Amino acid sequence: MEKLILFSLVVSALIFSGCQKKEDAIKIGVAGPMTGDQAKMGTDFKNGITLAVEEWNSKGGVLGKKIIALVEDDQHDPKQAVSVANKLVNAGAAGVIGHFNSSCSIPASDVYNRAGIPMITPASTNPQLTEKGYSGVFRVCGRDDQQGKVGAEFVINNLKLKKIAVIHDKTTYGQGLADEFKKFVKKNIDIVYYSGIIQGDKDFKTVLTSIKEKKPELIYFGGIYPEAGLLVKQARELGLDIPFMSGDGTIDPKFIEIAGAKAAEGTYLTFSPDAKKISTAKKFVEDYEKKFEEIGPYSIYAYDATNIMLSAIKEAATTNGKAVIEKLHSMEFGGALGKIKFDKKGDVTVAPYVVWTTKDGKFEEFWKP
Ligand code: ALA
Repeated sequence: MEKLILFSLVVSALIFSGCQKKEDAIKIGVAGPMTGDQAKMGTDFKNGITLAVEEWNSKGGVLGKKIIALVEDDQHDPKQAVSVANKLVNAGAAGVIGHFNSSCSIPASDVYNRAGIPMITPASTNPQLTEKGYSGVFRVCGRDDQQGKVGAEFVINNLKLKKIAVIHDKTTYGQGLADEFKKFVKKNIDIVYYSGIIQGDKDFKTVLTSIKEKKPELIYFGGIYPEAGLLVKQARELGLDIPFMSGDGTIDPKFIEIAGAKAAEGTYLTFSPDAKKISTAKKFVEDYEKKFEEIGPYSIYAYDATNIMLSAIKEAATTNGKAVIEKLHSMEFGGALGKIKFDKKGDVTVAPYVVWTTKDGKFEEFWKP
């Protein structure tokens, strides 16, 4: 009998805590390419966000509620991103960390804006995202007008080149970055080739052969690592042995893996300074690498974006979108990346881009403007 009473007490406690958990949770949406050829980026997001959520939950959550991350896969497809955004809104997400690709973040931001919930992208750098005038749209990364300018300064002032080729993947991000770069270099450098490739294609030899005929001194690419890796690999196969330069979408070990370390050697990439050298990031890097794998380029941005969103909810003392958005605009956050403050548009007030290079199969910081 005693056993039976104890058993029913345990069962009702479990049922009660089960119900309570559901009602008392704050849901945060997470969106990015979780499957497909850019899944490494989605995984980096998921890992960074998971770490932040677990830390908050171990301290009792936010406003006495547990945090649940609702992870959705946009497959880096703009249409899928809109559908995922609607799904997250309908599921009651208080805010969203995402998306990765600008081509996804921009259309998804329409959905979050209509729903009145904040979104913080860890990685979408296309300027248009924060130029739409949506008060609830934020990014913890920089913008491609900043990134393109630093890339251009490097090619003009450091490499002192005269003839280059510029290609892009025809996406909002890839073409946008290539065009920003082009805008800044074109007064000083002759752009002997400019064209787009198709994202997802595997054979770029026709484009590379045309580039080779023009005899440029460097190929600049606006795009993401799957295509960047193949471009470099195939360029070397064609005997096109000139430096390759790209941006934040390419700076991942997957790029070197696809291209091959030898072919990728000496590539230049614009990105933010090495997170591993930032003193405030030390604990994050240790905890992340103990739990998952080596940090990816945007793992720390996803982690900070999550902490910022949850701190704003805590400060607002509500999940009401309007109140949280106000807090996001007014607060200064102490993240793993250091101090983060948003300007009126939702951009970070400081976004230092530097140039990295690949050496012996690894990335290292190379040049500062
Ligand atoms: N920075 C890249 C984009 O905006 C990832 O799409």
